[in-house]
Amino acid sequence: MSTQTTPATGNASKTKGQADVGEAQPLYAQRGREIQPYGTLTRMPLGLGEKVCGASVASLNQVLADTMTLRDMYKKHHWQVAGHTFYQLHLLFDKHHKEQSELVDSIAERIQLLGGISLAMAHDVAETTSVPRPPRGREEVPTQISRLLEAHEIILKAARGAAREAADAGDDGTNDLLVSEVVRTNELQVWFLAEHLVDTPMIRADQGRQGGK
Ligand SMILES: [Fe+2]
Repeated sequence: MSTQTTPATGNASKTKGQADVGEAQPLYAQRGREIQPYGTLTRMPLGLGEKVCGASVASLNQVLADTMTLRDMYKKHHWQVAGHTFYQLHLLFDKHHKEQSELVDSIAERIQLLGGISLAMAHDVAETTSVPRPPRGREEVPTQISRLLEAHEIILKAARGAAREAADAGDDGTNDLLVSEVVRTNELQVWFLAEHLVDTPMIRADQGRQGGK
């Protein structure tokens, strides 16, 4: 008869020549029921109604899914960028990725503190995001930047709308996060990207355009 048990039971008993590990046995390979299903809300003593928290959680999860997608698109382009602006864009894309990662954490933690559940896994994010899926392969810089700008605009429109709704409902914290962090960061990143798509000469000035001619 076997003396071995699964680690999760915590009753690994001694076999011949083996020391009894007792309480030191890690109880791995465990599963249990969910303690809160997705889409439900726990009540927090925040002075906000359940309806208000629920509405903020729903809009924040949409902004979260789109922000996680944009964050990952920045890393894709950081790795795959090519051409004579490789070095500066490689660095810029990584800087923006880091800033988007910080937004992801702020948004997700606000969802949790409101009593909701933040989306987390790539599968769930892919099903939820409004940002169009880019191909797996590499694309040219103008296309990379255009895709990033489109993602930023989707987030900016959603974040401004959600911020106004949160303010109207009295959820000032969500409004502040969306305006002060999400909108401001995305607007600034749009500027840094869009200026790369201005078709100006690199070496020789275009004299034909001087004086408005
Ligand atoms: Fe890197």
